[in-house]
Amino acid sequence: MDDIRKRLEQLAEEFQKDIAGAASLAGINELRVSYLGKKGHLTGILRGMGQLDPAQRPLVGQLANEVRQTLETDLQKAAERLGRLEQAEKLRQEELDVTRPGLKTTVGGRHPLTLVIDEICNIFIGLGYSVAEGPEIEYDRYNFELLRLPQGHPARDEQDTFYITDHILLRTQTSPVQIRVMQEQKPPIKIVCPGRVYRSDTVDATHSPVFHQIEGLVVDEGVTMGDLVGSLQLFSRQLFGKETRIRLRPHHFPFTEPSCEVDISCWSCQGKGCRTCKLEGWIEVLGAGMVHPEVLENCGIDSARYSGFAFGIGVERTAMGRFGIDDIRNFYENDIRFLSQFR
Ligand code: PHE
Repeated sequence: MDDIRKRLEQLAEEFQKDIAGAASLAGINELRVSYLGKKGHLTGILRGMGQLDPAQRPLVGQLANEVRQTLETDLQKAAERLGRLEQAEKLRQEELDVTRPGLKTTVGGRHPLTLVIDEICNIFIGLGYSVAEGPEIEYDRYNFELLRLPQGHPARDEQDTFYITDHILLRTQTSPVQIRVMQEQKPPIKIVCPGRVYRSDTVDATHSPVFHQIEGLVVDEGVTMGDLVGSLQLFSRQLFGKETRIRLRPHHFPFTEPSCEVDISCWSCQGKGCRTCKLEGWIEVLGAGMVHPEVLENCGIDSARYSGFAFGIGVERTAMGRFGIDDIRNFYENDIRFLSQFR
């Protein structure tokens, strides 16, 4: 009897040390199992009750119950206290300081060349054109031959490019899309085609071996040079303002006849003459002309019945004018300080 009583007292003492050292809810649960569980210390001691004198059993039983009670109350209290601490710690860790400066996300924008391409295409879409596309890797036949630039033609010299094979090259102009469209569609045709083109050229403030053009093509019955001039006039006024004038200078392209280069009155000085236009008052932005009858025939279009005009707009040049940019290299350097000025 004394033995069991002693062991129960010892158990209570041990328990007080253990519970004082418990630092977490998990620790408390472990203690509960190791003292009060089926295989716990208390059960172990009470197993010895069987050997006791029956008269003493109630006394020991009462003592054991008291010990169990104390242990349970203490465990409960400790669990509550640690639970509160753990909750407080969790709140502290998850604390949200709404006065802290936020994380800034930078929002991207469209590239100035894309902006100008979209703007120009939208003007022509408004005039009833649709948008066509063609490959940058093109057949010599489409880029040159069917446009009346046979092998050895001197005009090829100005448009030297990278040849992938004898017959396949990086297109030097968007004009081959004229051929592709006319082979696919029959008149009336009214398309613009924006795209990248390549020429062997030394880089400087106004030249780049990779640049962009927007091709335009209109083919129908009775299309005249007057329609070309009217369309380009409308286009220039929409893009550069309603005071803008255009000027046509005779030129030569093998695939148009007659051909011209088109200048617009300087966007900086409105034609008075300044640094931007090199005192000329005019800036060249595109080449144009009436589609050569042979080109129509090359694509199976009856040149006795149909006529058409075509034009090719230099995108970089136009964008430089539109945004007042004086060096073409800015477009390709990916300097965020430059690009972020255009949205
Ligand atoms: N493709 C010509 C060039 O790159 C421009 C042009 C297009 C001229 C259409 C006339 C008609 O110079």
